[in-house]
Amino acid sequence: MKPINVGLLGIGTVGGGTWDVLARNQEEITRRAGRGIVITAVADKDQARARKITGGKARLSADANDVVGDPDIDIVIELIGGYTVAKEFVLKAIANGKHVVTANKALLATHGNEIFAAAQKKGVMVGFEAAVAGGIPIIKALREGLTANRIEWIAGIINGTSNFILTEMRDKGLAFDAVLKEAQRLGYAEADPAFDIEGVDAAHKLTIMSAIAFGVPMQFEKAYTEGIARLTQQDIRYAEELGYRIKLLGITRRTPEGIELRVHPTLIPAKRLIANVEGVMNAVLVKGDAVGATMYYGAGAGAEPTASAVVADLVDITRLHTADPDNRVPHLAFQPDQLAGTRILPMDEVTTSYYLRMRVVDRPGVLADVTRILADLSISIDAMVQKEPGAGEEQVDIIMLTHQTRERQINAAIAKIEALPVVTGKVTRIRLEELN
Ligand code: HSE
Repeated sequence: MKPINVGLLGIGTVGGGTWDVLARNQEEITRRAGRGIVITAVADKDQARARKITGGKARLSADANDVVGDPDIDIVIELIGGYTVAKEFVLKAIANGKHVVTANKALLATHGNEIFAAAQKKGVMVGFEAAVAGGIPIIKALREGLTANRIEWIAGIINGTSNFILTEMRDKGLAFDAVLKEAQRLGYAEADPAFDIEGVDAAHKLTIMSAIAFGVPMQFEKAYTEGIARLTQQDIRYAEELGYRIKLLGITRRTPEGIELRVHPTLIPAKRLIANVEGVMNAVLVKGDAVGATMYYGAGAGAEPTASAVVADLVDITRLHTADPDNRVPHLAFQPDQLAGTRILPMDEVTTSYYLRMRVVDRPGVLADVTRILADLSISIDAMVQKEPGAGEEQVDIIMLTHQTRERQINAAIAKIEALPVVTGKVTRIRLEELN
């Protein structure tokens, strides 16, 4: 059978990796897919780069319109990134009846509902395994492998850059800014590094997983997002002393009141497997009612790990493109007319535990004042440490871990604690999850 023709938009890091993996493993991929998969057209503004990678084996153009409008192309891979141009070409490719594979989590988290609706109308597939956690086949796992389960929650380290920064801060005792520069030098960071360190990239990926896990539309605008830029050495050390590690986690959980959708630095017990995911690696923990907890680990970025996911989508599409569109795996795991309108909970309504650090004057009654505030708001203390004052100092750090409470309650408590005359400065609050 003649090969399926693929058009590639963007032959940068992941595009180059995709070209190489397809070429290197062509024979086995063909045996798996049932026919060859060949990139026959490439669009990239950098023609010299495109020529160098493809070695004259594909038609080249600087204009993506040439690829999405090419009648010989069956599948378009979008690796341009960003929202505007990428969206335009994905929708054009779909309108022209082409299947699409994309690694663009920002695009899907913000415009995925529109893109999937267009694809469904046209009877084409949109593959996006590469959009979440790079090479880890988490979309496949959630959408197919765990399909028997009622998913209860997902917690993931899904931004390699921030995990690298947190790992280096802990291991080398370095400050945030110094490590960020190193991450950028190593090329892990997004084009806009704010997306990595402010949790936006993780929230994009979490939004996609949440939609698939719970059968709801993408609702990135409702995700709570807090990054790692304000974390200090002090908190990393205190957390360690209490048996916890701080990770930037994306958490989505089903509750009777609605769905939690939140990205923030989180204390997790150091003994958990996921607490030991270091450097740029990613890991996603999924709790299903039947299977229990399962964990998926691997490279969340990089040329060939991400290409591994892109090519897997190409193989899926090659196997399924002649199938009746109604019998294919739905984009969001649930049939499109079965998506639920379940509420995404505002952060105020989320329930979790907390690490609180405050600096107080070291004299009788101070602790009683603080614990009274917590007790009045029905917040139960799980553990508490008071550090020794430094030589000649009259103030000490107090660290408290609370049992589960609502974010609204802890906000009220923090405001009251900060208003106490014996408390200096702000209370540091970091959320804590036992993940058991
Ligand atoms: N910038 C992302 C990360 C990689 O650091 O994980 C691609 O999603």
